[in-house]
Amino acid sequence: MASSTVSFEPSSPATWRENPSQAFRAADSASEFAGGNLHRRSSNGPGAPDAFLGLIGSSAAIQRVKEQVRTVAPTDSTVLLEGETGTGKELVSRAVHNLSPRKNRTLIKFNCAAIPHGLLESELFGHERGAFTGAIARKLGRFELADQGTLFLDEVGEIPLEIQVKLLRVLQEQEFERLGGTQTERVNVRLVAATNRNLAEMVSEQEFRNDLYFRLNVFPITIPPLRARIEDIPLLAEHFLKEYSRRMDKRIDTIPASTLQKLQQHPWPGNVRELQNFLERAVILTTGSVLDAPLEDLKIPADAQPEPAVTLRQAESSHILKTLRETNWVLGGPRGAAIRLGLKRTTLVSKMRKLGLSRPVAGVAL
Ligand SMILES: Nc1ncnc2c1ncn2[C@@H]1O[C@H](COP(=O)(O)OP(=O)(O)OP(=O)(O)O)[C@@H](O)[C@H]1O
Ligand SMILES: [Mg+2]
Repeated sequence: MASSTVSFEPSSPATWRENPSQAFRAADSASEFAGGNLHRRSSNGPGAPDAFLGLIGSSAAIQRVKEQVRTVAPTDSTVLLEGETGTGKELVSRAVHNLSPRKNRTLIKFNCAAIPHGLLESELFGHERGAFTGAIARKLGRFELADQGTLFLDEVGEIPLEIQVKLLRVLQEQEFERLGGTQTERVNVRLVAATNRNLAEMVSEQEFRNDLYFRLNVFPITIPPLRARIEDIPLLAEHFLKEYSRRMDKRIDTIPASTLQKLQQHPWPGNVRELQNFLERAVILTTGSVLDAPLEDLKIPADAQPEPAVTLRQAESSHILKTLRETNWVLGGPRGAAIRLGLKRTTLVSKMRKLGLSRPVAGVAL
């Protein structure tokens, strides 16, 4: 088997104090990072770790992302990171913070999808004592915690419409009231938002306010999927191999060329995160010095694309439509669509109106 000898110098634990990507991955929805806490030795090689804190890649696409980060980081402008799951949005958000004048201040990370809607407002803006049952003490929200620093709002597309108004206000005026409070609080926060949903599409479906979208979209950075920058795969594979070998105390110094080729053919719907997990598994399974990757696990055909994201509204609409077709557009009665869908007839009618579903006129397929 042909081998490309990727010669590694296994790093000593002392120089690799912590893998920032791991530390970051393990972080929960409301973690706090003091700038510059997680260091790696910097080097000038292509894709080498530097101020970008482990953002590996030498492809034109990643170079462009880095260039955009370098350009926008020193400003206070809002940055919108768009990209599929696992493309590195969180890493990029840290780079924006670390290359900004706020780097010695706090970076607060908040995942809007990880918090129930009912709690979102108080988590973001805080609450006063007695604001609601269980509010036994005043609590500061993420905006106040991030004051003078950076707030990374992950999965911003998940914020419900009613809270989007408040978010818009704090972004425009830098002021808000805590839940149950009357006093207006002022903050100085730099916002980095991320999403793997198509916000423009959500705007056209009235799921996202267009004024907020324009406010967030000041400086968009799109991180391309891994399959669009396969030249980064060898570098990333080498990086993760080195990292996991070190952690598992193994000496693996070769990735067969045929393995690299297979890795470059896989579409990686989970992007860098999927590649990282695959390399971890490969290192566990390897006993010698040549990486023995479980390539048979890479089952998705080379031309497969990840499923397009379907919104709840689209799913609801297509399920109702399917049931209507099956019942020949009979809504009520024991054989009607309403019963099948577990709805009252009137509820179904109002849902259909809201979703714009109506019986097709003869000869026009819906
Ligand atoms: N260019 C890269 N170089 C090194 N590691 C990377 C790179 N891109 C992503 N990773 C690693 O891949 C994993 C996923 O990255 P990250 O969490 O930043 O993705 P994400 O875009 O925020 O995903 P999601 O939308 O699912 O939250 C992390 O462990 C991260 O360290
Ligand atoms: Mg993320």
